[in-house]
Amino acid sequence: MDDERIVSARLMMEDRTAEYSLRPRYLSEYIGQERVKENLKVYIEAAKMRREALDHVLLYGPPGLGKTTLSAVIANELGVNMRVTSGPAIERPGDLAAILSNLQEGDVLFIDEIHRLSRAVEEVLYPAMEDFALDIMIGKGPSARSIRLDLPKFTLIGATTRAGLLSAPLRDRFGVVSRLEYYGIDELAFIVERSADILGVRMIGAAAREIAMRSRGTPRIANRLLKRVRDFAQVEGDGIITAELAREALERMQVDPKGLDQIDHKMLRAMIEHFGGGPVGLDTIAATIGEESQTIEDVYEPYLMQIGFLQRTPRGRVVTAAAYRHLGLPVPRGRAKAGEEEGPLLF
Ligand SMILES: Nc1ncnc2c1ncn2[C@@H]1O[C@H](COP(=O)(O)OP(=O)(O)O)[C@@H](O)[C@H]1O
Ligand SMILES: [Mg+2]
Repeated sequence: MDDERIVSARLMMEDRTAEYSLRPRYLSEYIGQERVKENLKVYIEAAKMRREALDHVLLYGPPGLGKTTLSAVIANELGVNMRVTSGPAIERPGDLAAILSNLQEGDVLFIDEIHRLSRAVEEVLYPAMEDFALDIMIGKGPSARSIRLDLPKFTLIGATTRAGLLSAPLRDRFGVVSRLEYYGIDELAFIVERSADILGVRMIGAAAREIAMRSRGTPRIANRLLKRVRDFAQVEGDGIITAELAREALERMQVDPKGLDQIDHKMLRAMIEHFGGGPVGLDTIAATIGEESQTIEDVYEPYLMQIGFLQRTPRGRVVTAAAYRHLGLPVPRGRAKAGEEEGPLLF
């Protein structure tokens, strides 16, 4: 169901071509994530001064926040090539061995969804990351022996939405571990303006903010909403995106002023109507709205928690007072008062 949502943070087919042109190439174009960027700048500079490969980097955070983009930026800043693959794509240890032995000195190897590597493949990665070596078994049975091949010094960049699923030995082998955060409204507005420039769309007044507000802290969603709003501007207006046109278009797409869509509303309302706002267990919520627990946990929940609409407690999920107010419902007694007991607010 999530794949059909306009506010899904997942990569969709139609994003692919545009994402290529909208992707920042250098750190100076990469908006936001200031702390992560500042540290990386230092590490990249130092590696270049020493003419060494950059330490292995792990990037984690929700989908659509710029992990893949940042990896390519790092490779560009280092002036090296990037080889791209993903956890599920590397089926056998031999597949990884082949990729590793084709790397050039200093290259970046990007492994997306690195938490999905199999155990056997991970075993190949350990000596490669630590000693830049590949251990190969020759022969079978009692006469089998292993030989060690040297690999070029490379930088592994791993990306994951689920850092918690990474095995400890793998996690420990990354010298740099950075968490990407949801973006603020100003940053997203800036991204929307930059993208509009690249796409050659005219936007005036507070139009960018109007889109930014509803983008769930996520650049991928901001860019997608911009493209849909552009369609409305072209077909029903004169091609120029005004704040009013943006607002109207987004309302017609049923994206509310906080970026929540019908599914978010359905979930929050179900929790309120059937369970008094919680606590409700994840599986119960899933069954009630006909979604998979995993999808709720990975896709819907993180943003709702980020804006303080949902809380995770040991006994289950709880709808906060802020969410009741947003839905225009009276806040029940005993619910958190404004600002209290609510998660970190984005805005
Ligand atoms: N910091 C940023 N500045 C500008 N645009 C960004 C930024 N981060 C992401 N984007 C845009 O969002 C899209 C999705 O980012 P991506 O790197 O694919 O996310 P992830 O790999 O974390 O799912 C990119 O194509 C890019 O256009
Ligand atoms: Mg990605």
